[in-house]
Amino acid sequence: MPEESRFLILLGPPMSGKGTQAARLSQLFGIPQVSSGDLFRDNIKNQTNLGLEAKKYIDRGDLVPDEVTIGMVKERLHREDCLGGALLDGFPRTIPQAEALDDILAGVGVSLSAVISVAVPEDVLVERASGRRICRNCGQSYHLKFDPPKESGICDEDGGELYQREDDKPETVRNRFAVYQAQTSPLIEFYRARGILHEVNGDQLIDEVADDILQVVNAL
Ligand code: AP5
Ligand code: MG
Ligand code: ZN
Repeated sequence: MPEESRFLILLGPPMSGKGTQAARLSQLFGIPQVSSGDLFRDNIKNQTNLGLEAKKYIDRGDLVPDEVTIGMVKERLHREDCLGGALLDGFPRTIPQAEALDDILAGVGVSLSAVISVAVPEDVLVERASGRRICRNCGQSYHLKFDPPKESGICDEDGGELYQREDDKPETVRNRFAVYQAQTSPLIEFYRARGILHEVNGDQLIDEVADDILQVVNAL
C-alpha cells in the first residue's frame, strides 16, 4: 500500500456539507472526490442505462439499489487516479455498501483511513436546501446566502451554469432526511465500533468546519 494512500469517508445527512468539504479536501490533498450522487447525475445527464434506472429513485429521494450503486463506485475506485486515495462523499450509505467498500479496498491492498461524520441539526439542513445551487459542469455546490458564487448564476471554477437540483424540492428533501435516518445513520455506530469514526460539528462557518476536518486528518 502506498505510504500516503488516504481513503476518507464523509458521512452525513443531506445538506450537511459533504460535497462542499470534499471538494476542498480534494484540492488540498490532490486526491479525487468520489461522490456517488455526482456519478449518478453524470449518468443521468448522459442518459446511460444506469442513469435512467437511478433517476426513478433519486427523483423520489430514495436510495438507488445497492447492486447498482456498488458496481458504479467500484468501477470509479478502480481507476488510476484513485491509487493514492479518494474522498468518498455520499458512499457508503447502507451497511451492505460499507461491507462492499471493505472488499473493494482489500482487493487493492488498502484500508479505510477514517470516517468523518458531519453533524448538523435538521432545522439548519432545511434552511440550507432552499438556497443551494449546483454547477451543471462540475457539480460544485454554492449557496445563495452562505456560499454565493462571485458572479450570480455562474460557477467560479469553470463558468458553468448554476441550477437547483430537482431533488431539492421540500417534499423530496423531507424524504431524503427520513431515508438518511433509517438507512444511513446506522453507519455511525458501525464505524464507531471499529474505532475509525471522527465527529465534526457541521453547524459552523464552512471554513471552521474545514479546519476541524483538517485537524482530524492531520492527526491520523
Ligand atoms: P447526493 O448527491 O449524495 O445527496 P445528499 O447525500 O442528499 O447530499 P447533498 O449533496 O444534498 O448534500 P451535501 O452534504 O453534499 O451538502 P453540500 O456540500 O452540497 O445523493 C443524491 C441522491 O442520489 C440520493 O438521494 C440517492 O437517491 C442517490 N444516491 C447517492 N449516493 C447513493 C448511495 N451511496 N446509495 C444509494 N443511493 C445514492 O451543502 C449543502 C448546501 O449548504 C450548499 O448550498 C452549501 O453551499 C451549503 N453549505 C455547506 N456547508 C455549509 C455551512 N457550514 N454553513 C452554511 N451553508 C453550508
Ligand atoms: Mg453532495
Ligand atoms: Zn463548475
